[in-house]
Amino acid sequence: MGAHMFDYLKPLPADAIIAMMQQAKADTRPNKIDMGVGVYKDSSGAVPIMRAVKTAEDIILGEEMSKSYVGTTGRAEFRRLMLDMVLGEQFHAPRIASSQAAGGSGALRLGAELIKSAAPNATVWVSDPTWANHIPLISSTGLKMDKYPYYNRETLGVEFDAMLAHLDTHAVPGDVVLLHGCCHNPTGADFSPAQWDRLVPFMLERELLPFVDLAYYGLGRGLSEDSYGLQLVFEHCPEALVAASCSKNFGLYKERVGLIAVLCRDEKTAQIAQTQFGAIQRKLISMPPDHGAQVVERILGSGELKRIWLDELTEMRGRMRNLRVLLSEALDVQGGAHIARAVADQNGMFSTLPVSAAQAEELRNAHAIYMTNSGRINIAGANASNIPHLAEALLDVLS
Ligand SMILES: Cc1ncc(COP(=O)(O)O)c(C=O)c1O
Repeated sequence: MGAHMFDYLKPLPADAIIAMMQQAKADTRPNKIDMGVGVYKDSSGAVPIMRAVKTAEDIILGEEMSKSYVGTTGRAEFRRLMLDMVLGEQFHAPRIASSQAAGGSGALRLGAELIKSAAPNATVWVSDPTWANHIPLISSTGLKMDKYPYYNRETLGVEFDAMLAHLDTHAVPGDVVLLHGCCHNPTGADFSPAQWDRLVPFMLERELLPFVDLAYYGLGRGLSEDSYGLQLVFEHCPEALVAASCSKNFGLYKERVGLIAVLCRDEKTAQIAQTQFGAIQRKLISMPPDHGAQVVERILGSGELKRIWLDELTEMRGRMRNLRVLLSEALDVQGGAHIARAVADQNGMFSTLPVSAAQAEELRNAHAIYMTNSGRINIAGANASNIPHLAEALLDVLS
């Protein structure tokens, strides 16, 4: 090795979705529809700050007296309020250890590190396809990863029996199965309640550990619907993990706020896991960012702010549901009926359409419509007036 150590670095490809975001931004065609990156946009295309967030920030700005460190696992009250919200009444507090995290990504990483400490030989199974960052985030702990079948690109639904059969044959007791709690990224295809009802006993019987990624809570069907699977898991499984993000449902993306929680067999084990979370966070980033968690704590801890936030969340969810209905109606013609059905059935921001990479490119070049090369759309990138253009262009490239 010579004197200049960084000469030995190899260049890495730019993140495809960030590159496409920049390409879309530079596109000045008036009929442009940017359905790329996974952020919620309002009907004007803005990524707004929620009113409840702004109000909480105003209060905090006036009242905050110190910027001193909080601690490695963050705010205890934030963690309590978040657990209460996502786990509901059957929340087994004494058996749960938790930590505030730097976004849902930080939460996933803390969960993966905890698994690595407890069971370094476990394999973490992820859906095929899954969020592109799951694999680098989790595998960089050194844990092995593998995929289970999930989305059928012909029926555009969940291949539930194939998933169970695959895990039955290939996963071993003590392996971890990462599940999207709701609004599956990138497909929008979620388990039905009946499928969760079958999945939980299957995981119990095979001694598989559920790790639920809850990145879009409240943006699917509703608060109780979106936590149906998570709550079932925490009710019936002796051990489980959840990684929740406040990026999307509070619109706090850049503030980096999330929560990791683990359900342990007993209280003593939970106390040990709590010490582990502190130590893991300490070695990674020492302490999580505070501002976003402080905002969420304010909102969830105040009846009035929580009501405002819930109204805004309902509006966001309703806007996306309405766009799904409009797109579905516009696609419900010869050649588009199965896509129409899927778009209406799926949840949250994303759907993965049966579009090839070449067709996605044609949509960009000929129609100014931006989606990933895998066919993932963010429905919040559209609005009621450009849905006809979107549907027409899709039917055109697919014909
Ligand atoms: C499935 C899934 N999990 C987790 C995250 C993490 O988000 P963040 O780290 O921004 O909170 C995302 C973000 O896109 C996601 O789609």
